[in-house]
Amino acid sequence: MTKKSYYITTPIYYPSDNLHIGHAYTTVAADCMARFKRMQGFDVCYLTGTDEHGQKIEKVALEKDMTPQHYVDGIVEGIKLLWEAMLISNNDFIRTTEKRHEEVVKNLFQKVYEQGDIYISEYEGWYCTPCETFFTERQLSDGKCPDCGRDVEKLKEESYFFNMAKYADRLLEHIDSHPDFIQPESRRNEVINFIKNGLDDLCVSRTTFNWGVPVPFNDRHVVYVWFDALINYVSAIGYLDDKEKFDRYWPANVHLMAKDILRFHAIIWPIMLMAVGLPLPEKVFAHGWIMLEGGKMSKSKGNVIDPLQLVNKYGVDAVRYYLVKELSFGQDGMYSEEMLVNRINSDLANDLGNLISRTVAMINRYFDSRIPERIGEDALDQELITTALTVYSEATEKLEKLDFAAYIQSVLKLISRANKYIDETQPWLLAKDEDKQDRLGTVLYNLVETIRIAIVLLAPAMPTLPERANQQLGIFEDPAILTWEEAGKWGAARAGTIVHKGKALFPRIDLKYQDGEENSDHEELEKQKIEEDNNLIDIEEFARMDLRVATVIACEKMKKADKLLVLKLQVGEEERTVISGIAKAYEPEQLIGRNVVLVANLKPVKLRGVLSQGMILAASDPQDNHIEVLTVEKIESGNRVK
Ligand code: ME8
Ligand code: MG
Repeated sequence: MTKKSYYITTPIYYPSDNLHIGHAYTTVAADCMARFKRMQGFDVCYLTGTDEHGQKIEKVALEKDMTPQHYVDGIVEGIKLLWEAMLISNNDFIRTTEKRHEEVVKNLFQKVYEQGDIYISEYEGWYCTPCETFFTERQLSDGKCPDCGRDVEKLKEESYFFNMAKYADRLLEHIDSHPDFIQPESRRNEVINFIKNGLDDLCVSRTTFNWGVPVPFNDRHVVYVWFDALINYVSAIGYLDDKEKFDRYWPANVHLMAKDILRFHAIIWPIMLMAVGLPLPEKVFAHGWIMLEGGKMSKSKGNVIDPLQLVNKYGVDAVRYYLVKELSFGQDGMYSEEMLVNRINSDLANDLGNLISRTVAMINRYFDSRIPERIGEDALDQELITTALTVYSEATEKLEKLDFAAYIQSVLKLISRANKYIDETQPWLLAKDEDKQDRLGTVLYNLVETIRIAIVLLAPAMPTLPERANQQLGIFEDPAILTWEEAGKWGAARAGTIVHKGKALFPRIDLKYQDGEENSDHEELEKQKIEEDNNLIDIEEFARMDLRVATVIACEKMKKADKLLVLKLQVGEEERTVISGIAKAYEPEQLIGRNVVLVANLKPVKLRGVLSQGMILAASDPQDNHIEVLTVEKIESGNRVK
C-alpha cells in the first residue's frame, strides 16, 4: 500500500545575512508538523531553502566586494549547519540558483508568455528593495514602503507584466469554496478585501541589474525575484524532470510563512498556478511575528537573536519547545531570554523533569528498578487515563490546525494532572503498607504510562526527548519506531522494564549566575559586613561542620504536629531520617527528589519517639514566616558543602 503523502514548505529565506530566530520560528514549526505527520505514517516531503536572486542580494554582495554567488554560498552553508543543529528534518533544500530550479522558472515564464498572460510594456512606479516589492504612488505611505516603512526607489523601465486581474474572480471563487485555503480566518478576510479592491498587473521582469534568471526570450531582462522564488515549491519536487515525484506531492498540503509575505502566497502564487494549469495548494498558513521588546526582529533593524547561540546554551529541545509554545494560532509571539529560561525551569525542569525523576526514583526504591505491573483501576486512575486519552485527541486536533501553542498547552495539562496524581495517591505512604504493594505498583505503572504518552506527544517539538527519556525509563527501546498512534493507547509500556536513575533531563537554569555576571556593589557590601562583624569564626571552626548534599527520597507530615515534616534522606550510601519544622511552607511531595543540604554531624535528638539524625538548612524571613529550603541542582547526594 502506498502511504498518503504530505508536503509542507517554509518560505525560502533570503541569504542576504545569517538567519535569526524569526526564521527558526517558521522552520521549527514546519518541522514539528513534518515530524507529526511522519509519526502518523505519512510519506512526508518537508522543503525549505534559499531565495538567492534579486537586487537586494546583488547589493550586499557588491558591498562586500564579492560575486553574488560566492557571497550566498557562504551564507547558505551557515544556514544548512543551523538547521542541522536545530534538528530540522527537511527532505530537501532548494536554492534558486540551482539549475533544476532555473529551468523550471524559464519554462513557466515562457508558457505564461506564450498563452498571452505576460506582455511587454513600461513600468513606472516605486520599488522597495528590502521587500523586493513594487508599489504604485497611491500605495505608498508618506512616500515610504507601506510594508516596512523604508525608502523606496523610483523605477522607470521596460518590463514584462503579468495579467493578474484576469484571474481575480476565479481566485475569489476558490477562496470562497475552500474555507481552509487561507488560514487563520482573519488573514483570509484581509486577502479577500485586497483582491476585491482590484489587482494591478504585476511587473515580472527587471532590466537594471543582472542577478536573476534571464527571461528566456529576451536576455536583457531578468525574471522578477518573487516570480522566480515562488516557483521553488514545484521545481524542488521535479515539475520538469520527475513526474512521479511531482504527482505524489503536488498540490502541497501547507505553505507555512509569517504574515509579511502572505499576499505573495495567497494571491500571486495561486494566480501563477492557475495560469499554468496546476492545482492550488491545500492551505496557505500565515503565523504571526516573533517580537522583541523593541518591536519586530529583523535583519535590517539589527536586533536579531542568533538561534545557534541559544541552542548551544540551552539545548535544542528546550529552544524548540519555547518557539513552538510561543506560536499561538496566528498571533504574534514574544521572545526574551528571560522568558525562555522561565519556560525551561517551570514547564520542563519542574513539571516534566520532576515528574520523570520522581517516578524513576520511586520505582528504583520500591520495586528494585523494575516497572511494576498494574493491577486494577480505581476512580483516580480512570480520571488520569481519561485525561491522557483526551489530551491525545486534543493535541492531534490542535496540530492538524497548526495551533502549536494550544497543542503544547494540552500536553502540559496531562503533565500537571500526573503530578497531582502523585499528591493524591501518596505512593510513599502506600510503600509503608505491606498490603498496598499492588496499589503502589499500579500507581507507579500509571505514572510511567502518562509520561510515555506525554513524551510521544512532545516528540515532534522535542525530537531528542524520547531517546533521552529512554535512558532512564527504558520504554522507548527503538525511538525510531515511535508512532503517533501509540500515544492514543493506554497500557503500552512494558512492566518489568528496568529503569535507571540519571541526570535531570532539563536542569534548572539560573539566569542571574550566567556569563559570570557579578554585582560588585553587592559584593562590596558583603565585604564590609564581614569586616564589621565582631562575631567572626575561623575557617577551622567552620570546617568542623559536616555539610552534605542529601536527596529527599520520602517525606511525610509528622502525626499530630502541624509544623513538622519527617524526611527520609539518601546521603551517599547512607539513609537518614530528619525531622524539620517546615511543614507550613512545603507539602511533603514538593520535596521528594530535591537535593537539600544536611548538617550531617549534628547530635541526634529524639522528637515524639522519632530519632532525627541531623538538620536540613533553610532560610527564613520572620516578617512573613516565609521559609525556603536550600537545594542544589547538579551535585549528587553525599558530596560535601563548604
Ligand atoms: O520573504 N517572526 O524571505 P525572508 C516570525 N525570500 N517569522 C519571521 C520573522 C519574525 N520576526 N522574521 C522572519 C522572504 N520570519 C522571501 C520568501 S518564499 C517563496 C520567498 C520568517 O528571509 C517568516 O517565515 O525575508 C517570514 O515570512 C520569512 O521568515 C521571511 O523571510
Ligand atoms: Mg523579509
